[in-house]
Amino acid sequence: MTALDIDALRHRFPALAIAHGDRPMVFFDGPGGTQVPEVVIAAVAEHYRTSNANHGGRFATSRRSDAIVAEAHAAIADLLGVDGDEVILGANMTTLTLHLSRSIAAGLEPGDEIVVTGLDHAANVDPWLAAAADRGLGVRWWEPRLDDCTLHLEDLEVLLSPRTRLVAIGWASNAVGTINPVAEVAAAAHRVGALVYVDAVHAAPHLDIDARAVDADFVACSVYKFFGPHVGAVYGRRSVLAGLRAYKVRPADHRFETGTGNFEGWAGSLAAIGYLEDVGRMAGAPSSTTRRDRLVAAMRAIRDVEMTLYRRLHDGLVDIPGVKLHGIVDASAFDRRTPTAALTVEGLTPGEVARRLGDEGIAVWDGDFYALGLVERLGLALGGGLVRIGLTHYNTADEVDRLLDALRRIATGAASVATTGAPGIGTAR
Ligand SMILES: Cc1ncc(COP(=O)(O)O)c(C=O)c1O
Repeated sequence: MTALDIDALRHRFPALAIAHGDRPMVFFDGPGGTQVPEVVIAAVAEHYRTSNANHGGRFATSRRSDAIVAEAHAAIADLLGVDGDEVILGANMTTLTLHLSRSIAAGLEPGDEIVVTGLDHAANVDPWLAAAADRGLGVRWWEPRLDDCTLHLEDLEVLLSPRTRLVAIGWASNAVGTINPVAEVAAAAHRVGALVYVDAVHAAPHLDIDARAVDADFVACSVYKFFGPHVGAVYGRRSVLAGLRAYKVRPADHRFETGTGNFEGWAGSLAAIGYLEDVGRMAGAPSSTTRRDRLVAAMRAIRDVEMTLYRRLHDGLVDIPGVKLHGIVDASAFDRRTPTAALTVEGLTPGEVARRLGDEGIAVWDGDFYALGLVERLGLALGGGLVRIGLTHYNTADEVDRLLDALRRIATGAASVATTGAPGIGTAR
């Protein structure tokens, strides 16, 4: 595998040149949404220029738009290792999951059971809780071990029963970066006849996703987390989709894509996959390979780059007094985490830390990131949650060092303020 030329890739993202004072902004906000390369911006604009029409018309612009839409489905399918007809595009992962949960729940009976986790984003928890309330289903909670924020398979086994109909699990935690054993979860769920709905929104920008290899029934992701527009996508196993009740209006031909599509966003999504293919080529995937091969090569190269950078970030963070890291901190287990650090700083609220970093041109998120269950279980909800530093492949060692330097100053200043008892501790929210 050839090393990626990160500088060349960075030049493709216009936003990476945004200045903050005399320095460029630094984007560690990827888990909330990444920046996009110029090809994505151009594809959205080009769609408006040359292909702007509704679906199914007997004229050139509509035909062009329909061709792009078909290709966007095929491209996302290649990213997930499935077929284009199994990909449902929509507004975002949350909306698609709420919609599909209604269809899945329509086939369930009072007394049936579902499993949700205390680790995951609410988008793969709350739709199922709502379905449970509507249909009289039993809810079993798979609790994370709070010392390292991991889910253990033996804790799942005791929750499964012949009444279990669905296990909802994240491929990776958007709050603390834990990668879950989704293949083993799917095998355990299938042994009792349950479906598995996997939220891969946080995993997709960082890992090679192969929905068939892990045998998931559903895999959901969001294109805006991997360098594309605000679009959601869900893979559904063909045989499972065929058996679901579809909530749709009568003339529509698609069973799960409701209303008029975000065609320009889907054109941009196709371009985002094209960008990843370029990354795959840069990583050494020969031009004779398939799009899927290029995407796998891209994601493996991205993983290498990101985790090398993450080690630098981790080593720097553990050295800063007052900083506490949450999630997997044992470097020998880093193959089970994404490059997403979650931390708290003694004496400062996460909001205050994020604001001070933001004032220095460094974008990080604070709060619960909708991973409400985890943040509550960690006892951090009233204190403002966590600071999240999310690395992506376009970040650099210099940027990591700039963050470490800023955070060291912020944490050290906070410690001295806290010991003198002067104001400086932010209000809880
Ligand atoms: C892990 C995870 N799941 C689900 C979502 C919701 O995705 P969307 O914004 O596409 O609804 C997010 C968004 O941050 C996320 O990080």
